[in-house]
Formats: sequence, C-alpha cells, structure tokens
Amino acid sequence: MDSGLAGGPVSDSEVLALYESVGWSAYTRDPKVTTAAIRGSSLVATARNAGGGLVGLARAISDDATICYLQDILVDPAFQKSGAGRGLLEAVRTRYQHVRQLVLITDDEPGQRAFYEALGFTEGSDFRPDPVRIFAQFR
Ligand SMILES: CC(C)(COP(=O)(O)OP(=O)(O)OC[C@H]1O[C@@H](n2cnc3c(N)ncnc32)[C@H](O)[C@@H]1OP(=O)(O)O)[C@@H](O)C(=O)NCCC(=O)NCCS
Repeated sequence: MDSGLAGGPVSDSEVLALYESVGWSAYTRDPKVTTAAIRGSSLVATARNAGGGLVGLARAISDDATICYLQDILVDPAFQKSGAGRGLLEAVRTRYQHVRQLVLITDDEPGQRAFYEALGFTEGSDFRPDPVRIFAQFR
C-alpha cells in the first residue's frame, strides 16, 4: 500500500474517527472490514492538520495500468472547503497519471456533483459526443 499525501501510515482508530466524522455508518459499524479495506487499497492518500491529526483521506484501487477506481474521498467537516479534498484527489491523479480510466461512484447529491465537476470529472450520461452507461450492484 502506498500511503500519504502528507506521508506516513494511518492507524485504525484515526481512520474510524474520520469516517465517523462524515457519518459513514456503513463503514464504522463494521470496523474490521473497514480497516481491511484500507490495508487492501492500492493507494491511501492522507491529509493531516498542523498537529498531525488525520483530517482527510482518499483511497484508490488500481491495476496500475488501465484503471484506477476512487473508492473513498472524505474530509472532516471542520476542515472542508479549504482545498483538502482537491489536494487528496490530485494526489491520486498524480500517482495514476499513466492510467486512462479514473472512475468513481458517488451519491446523487448536488455538493458531490459540484465537487467532482470542479475537479474536472464528467458524469457518464453527460459525456459528449458519446454518453456512457455505468452499472453497479450493491450487495
Ligand atoms: C466532498 C469532499 C471530499 C470535498 O472536500 P473539501 O475539502 O471540502 O473540498 P475542496 O475544499 O478541496 O473543494 C474543491 C472544489 O470543490 C468544490 N466543492 C467542494 N464541496 C462542495 C459543495 N458541497 N458544494 C459545491 N462545491 C463544492 C469547491 O468549491 C472547490 O472548488 P474550487 O476549487 O473551484 O473553488 C467533502 O465535502 C467530504 O468529505 N464530504 C463528505 C464525504 C463525501 O461525500 N465524499 C464524496 C463522496 S465519495
């Protein structure tokens, strides 16, 4: 696992506290799965505050050749809207700049759409001249 926009590994407890800060209960109600997911990620980029506390994280799954899937990007609400999310996404993009497809799934919320569009992403149905279909199955 590559680690770190700010460098260094992340502890299980600080990861769970960060996911808790954004209310992602699907992760925090099963800590073992969440920490396994972090360890199994291809890249974990982190953002830390001046005191060294974990305030943001982005993780990606990739074959390092043709695809990079951005699985999570989250910033503690107390540190949002100050460029941390952009920095995390840029860290993933820089690491996988040789990979053509960077894809993700997100909730149908205006703020998330605005964030990804500000970072240069296009929703599949808005692709021109050829819109694309993205399928998913949650189990
Ligand atoms: C989405 C999220 C990661 C953005 O992090 P952030 O640190 O606040 O984002 P930044 O400050 O780097 O903003 C980057 C750009 O996105 C825009 N943006 C971010 N959040 C926005 C919002 N809610 N509404 C509109 N624009 C938004 C910013 O205006 C900025 O644009 P600019 O650089 O052109 O001014 C953060 O809001 C978050 O953790 N949300 C909860 C978890 C989540 O929903 N993650 C995404 C789905 S996986």
